[in-house]
Amino acid sequence: MRWNARAYDSSFGYVSAQGAPLVELLDPQPGERVLDLGCGTGVLSGEIAVRGAYVLGIDGSQAMIETAIAQFPRLDFAVGDGHDFTVAQPFDAVFSNAALHWMSRDPDAVIDSVRDALRPGGRFVAELGGAGNCAALTSAMLTAWREHGLREPELPWFFPSPAEYAVRLERAGFTLRILEHFDRPTPLDECPNGAADWVRMFAGSLLDGVPPATVEPLLRRVNELAAPALRNDAGWMADYVRLRFAAVRH
Ligand code: BEZ
Repeated sequence: MRWNARAYDSSFGYVSAQGAPLVELLDPQPGERVLDLGCGTGVLSGEIAVRGAYVLGIDGSQAMIETAIAQFPRLDFAVGDGHDFTVAQPFDAVFSNAALHWMSRDPDAVIDSVRDALRPGGRFVAELGGAGNCAALTSAMLTAWREHGLREPELPWFFPSPAEYAVRLERAGFTLRILEHFDRPTPLDECPNGAADWVRMFAGSLLDGVPPATVEPLLRRVNELAAPALRNDAGWMADYVRLRFAAVRH
């Protein structure tokens, strides 16, 4: 996935804005060492640092990390892959907002890397897309692709059920303290072209294999198919479903 950090911050700032309750759940303490996994442009890393914690932000995107460094020059950021990052010194907590669902190649490897980065008793506090996330959006996409005679795209995300993710965490050596699965319909205020804009931003790589002349009609069809479920008088809504948890390393 190629990220446009500027567009991400200006059009999809809700990703960071909706992370505030997760920072509350993390409850970072002065002097704690917190790793922000999938930190994006670093907005929530900054929030955590304001509470007096030391923060290291890691993200797979060089563009995101460059923006994070420019915005928060006093914090530490590094490009890294959630599947296999390592740390020199253990952390008190690993935090992650709206990022784990992108680390879909091997979710257990991600959880193992998090565990190995934590001290015993350290906490893993995160929110990701849960089962049912973006169901109307992705169903509209798959139908539109099929109608245009295109091979169904392999979606790049991992949206686990609470039961599935609990098993993964416990198997890796975590005790679950909190696990919530809830709807969070999210206004796409900055998407004048609705679901089509969302697809361009978050599933742009799936358009790479689409003949250029087909992209516009394909996205128009995504909008037609998604509109009954996701558009009302106030505008477009993304049908987000969250999985939020706090777990402790044994
Ligand atoms: C999400 O936050 O749930 C999400 C965002 C972009 C693509 C897929 C899921």
